[in-house]
Amino acid sequence: MASLKTNLCGVEFRSPLVLASGVLGVTASSMINVINNGAGGVTMKSLGPEERKGHPCPTMLSFEGGFMNAVGLSNAGIDEGVNEIIEYRQRCKEPIIASIFAFKTGLFGELAQKISKVKPDLIEINISCPNVESEAGIPFAMDKEAAAQLTKLVKQKTDIPVIVKLSPNALNIGEIAKACEIAGADAINMGNTLGPGLIINPEAKKPVLSNKFGGVSGPGLFPIALKRIWDVYAAVRIPIIGTGGVTDGRDAIQMIMAGASLVGVGTAVLYGDISVFRKMNEEILEFMEKNNYKTIKDMVGVAHE
Ligand SMILES: Cc1cc2nc3c(=O)[nH]c(=O)nc-3n(C[C@H](O)[C@H](O)[C@H](O)COP(=O)(O)O)c2cc1C
Repeated sequence: MASLKTNLCGVEFRSPLVLASGVLGVTASSMINVINNGAGGVTMKSLGPEERKGHPCPTMLSFEGGFMNAVGLSNAGIDEGVNEIIEYRQRCKEPIIASIFAFKTGLFGELAQKISKVKPDLIEINISCPNVESEAGIPFAMDKEAAAQLTKLVKQKTDIPVIVKLSPNALNIGEIAKACEIAGADAINMGNTLGPGLIINPEAKKPVLSNKFGGVSGPGLFPIALKRIWDVYAAVRIPIIGTGGVTDGRDAIQMIMAGASLVGVGTAVLYGDISVFRKMNEEILEFMEKNNYKTIKDMVGVAHE
């Protein structure tokens, strides 16, 4: 009998599917709802040092083949996030990944220290958001030295395993991932949205999003994300969370075969609803049974062989 159980950095997941950051990951209640619908774990919306309103509406649009967003990292701030983790922990035992972001290196360390006190299972550092570039400069994830320096700093501030979330925009992704591994990263999330991209409303003669540009997610991102996961797997020994455009069980299996130990799912939840986790679990299991795979681990990276 095939099993969906898997493990990342010593943390047990009952399914390889985890909620990606930024979609339904704000309150304990909504995250528990995602767990109750079949996700193996949840990633919280990225938390910054203080409350942040983000960009004005419209912040999201769908186009043929994908989604684009420029939410602008709106969040309630680290202190509120800490309370949500406390509540989640009281009510749910499945793994929770805290996500943090900042525009200055030093602040990442402070955030990691603060969030570690309430013991999320893993900490993800979001160094790759493409739609706040004008405020934040080029994302740290585009530069291997910057990414490595940040990883090192965060590792010094916490005992909880650290996942570094990279950007599909980077073509030398293997080198960047390797630099993060050497700096102490425990895992890589490959990765964030691609972009910035642009969609114009021809009648209005202007961009649809108030921020004009946004990060592209959903099915159109999938083949690019898959290739980046492939490259990261070839470059590092630490485990990978594969994220970008997964909408069904076959997509998730491809990510695993390219090298992912866990698969992040974000936009698919916006396309349909949270029942996608249950459906995808069934599709993965069916594939495993048919093709004689007993565990998820048996499929990780097999497409490289
Ligand atoms: C509306 C929206 C908000 C997002 N917010 C965050 C965020 O706060 N932090 C982060 O690391 N990624 C964020 N992401 C990126 C997703 O976690 C994911 O990496 C990306 O969308 C690709 O996966 P998907 O195609 O399954 O959505 C966001 C994505 C969307 C669509």
